[in-house]
Amino acid sequence: MNESFTLRGVTFQNRVFTASGTFGYGDETTGLVNVNKLGGIITKSLSLKPRDGNPAPRIAETASGMLNSIGLANIGVQHFIDEKLPTLRSLSTKVIANIAASSIDEYCAVAEALEPFAEIAGYEINVSCPNVKEGGLNFGTDPNQVARIARELRRRTEKILIVKLTPNVTHISEFARACEAEGMDAVSAVNTLIGMAVNIHTRKPKLSSTTGGLSGPAIKPVALAKVYELTRAVKIPVIGIGGIATWEDAVEFLLVGASAVQVGTANFISPATGVTIAEGIRAYCASHGFADVDAIVGALIAEKNRSVIDSWL
Ligand code: FUM
Repeated sequence: MNESFTLRGVTFQNRVFTASGTFGYGDETTGLVNVNKLGGIITKSLSLKPRDGNPAPRIAETASGMLNSIGLANIGVQHFIDEKLPTLRSLSTKVIANIAASSIDEYCAVAEALEPFAEIAGYEINVSCPNVKEGGLNFGTDPNQVARIARELRRRTEKILIVKLTPNVTHISEFARACEAEGMDAVSAVNTLIGMAVNIHTRKPKLSSTTGGLSGPAIKPVALAKVYELTRAVKIPVIGIGGIATWEDAVEFLLVGASAVQVGTANFISPATGVTIAEGIRAYCASHGFADVDAIVGALIAEKNRSVIDSWL
């Protein structure tokens, strides 16, 4: 069974990645799960300087999901290089560094700091965090800004560049087209949906930042429709994210055209979810007589122009 997936000449052993912010920096879970069975690890977002993030409470459970408002808390790129990379160096699975920033210069500076390290296969560019006032959605909801960030990063690196898109826009395909035009290798979609929850006894929002990002199974149908839109709009690979908790969820994303998937919130229940999903995809393909997972990518049987999305493209 061929499960591999290649981006910019880098081959990932399978199509299941851990989503940024749900698997630490990749080194914390090595005693809990055989991370070498994953297609790849995507690190927590890294900024140039360490960030404390938003004040607590910054997590709230919701029906079939959760809200977070972490505010891109992270150790900063230099600490990552000094403290985390040595462990990642010993892994056989590929590592993608997720980069968050509040300016184009900062995105470039973080990428440049990581450039010398061969154990970083590429970068996922976070233009979609809904929980910060600078960067995040200010960039990710403006296709011109997304294009500028992509252009500047492409000038600085030959490594894989993936842009992580927000679902909090009307036509996500517009953003993917901008990424494709600027030489991005893939887009990943979707980051969280802006959401809110209220404690009716205190009459206060459950999150200190009032709103946060909704993730988990609750968002899977929305994410799937966004991925469906994206795979019809661009030729570059789309990496599906959003509420994937089982191999059946992952197969749905592959059928609508995602070339690979990321597992996020489900890692908080079991960090082994990604490995289980990779095994399930393999078994599904074998039981349907497919010798290559690629055979199910985009294999959805759907009439064209039946969806409202088709009329936008
Ligand atoms: O608040 C956060 O750190 C969330 C980040 C994201 O959704 O990208």
